[in-house]
Amino acid sequence: METFQAAARISTGVEGLDRMLNGGLIPGRSYLVKGAPGTGKTTLAMHFAMAGVSNGENVLFVTLEEPLDNLRADMLKLGFNVDDPRLEIIDATPASDNYVLLEDYFESFAKSLERLTDTIKQRMAIKRYSRIVVDPITILKLASGNEMDYRKSFLSFVKSMMKMKVTVLLTSELQRTDVEEYIVGGIIELRNFEIDGFMVRGIKITKFRGSDFDKALRPYEISDRGIVVYTDKVVNPAKSLPL
Ligand SMILES: Nc1ncnc2c1ncn2[C@@H]1O[C@H](COP(=O)(O)OP(=O)(O)O)[C@@H](O)[C@H]1O
Ligand SMILES: [Mg+2]
Repeated sequence: METFQAAARISTGVEGLDRMLNGGLIPGRSYLVKGAPGTGKTTLAMHFAMAGVSNGENVLFVTLEEPLDNLRADMLKLGFNVDDPRLEIIDATPASDNYVLLEDYFESFAKSLERLTDTIKQRMAIKRYSRIVVDPITILKLASGNEMDYRKSFLSFVKSMMKMKVTVLLTSELQRTDVEEYIVGGIIELRNFEIDGFMVRGIKITKFRGSDFDKALRPYEISDRGIVVYTDKVVNPAKSLPL
């Protein structure tokens, strides 16, 4: 007999990844997707966002690297309905008016992340979003002058999001992320390898608080259907050269 109530799960939008997560993400927490450029972080973030939209949820997508037009074009290619009113995209890329670093480029990351946190809170006061994407947080961290300020504001960001009971997906290109890893509820890593002269993509969950999960490095592909994870196969990095 089950003696505990299994936590409800929400879909990442990628079936195989949901299986690796024992059913999906635990809502109301923040998650980090780590991977080098080109590994598919933005694509995974789009799956996560659109899974919310097709579930009838309101979703806020903050883009800091891919300009709005590119993001929309990529989403359209994957067959997502970018005009669904449940999806709101904030363009905070360098060329846009919302660029969070532009005015005080030499000031700390803390202030920028605080501004982002405030912006999200303001939007939440108008409309209840249940999923938020920030893709990627890398640029904010790189602009940070002060490690302590950065840690404080990151912690405060995650706490604010938890208070609002929103599920957050953050992406990062940095190999070494420190404070984020302790604070988030889960980490999904996307890795590229070279095996026998071919590029092989591998996905691995390295942390998932409050749940068991698939510990294997599973192969995945990106195609015009988006990300497909093969949970019946394993990538053997011992045979590979790191890319
Ligand atoms: N239709 C497609 N077929 C094959 N690969 C694709 C397709 N669309 C995108 N990709 C691949 O997806 C990757 C880009 O994914 P993206 O989510 O932008 O990565 P990241 O955000 O980690 O930089 C690229 O390596 C690109 O080759
Ligand atoms: Mg990206």
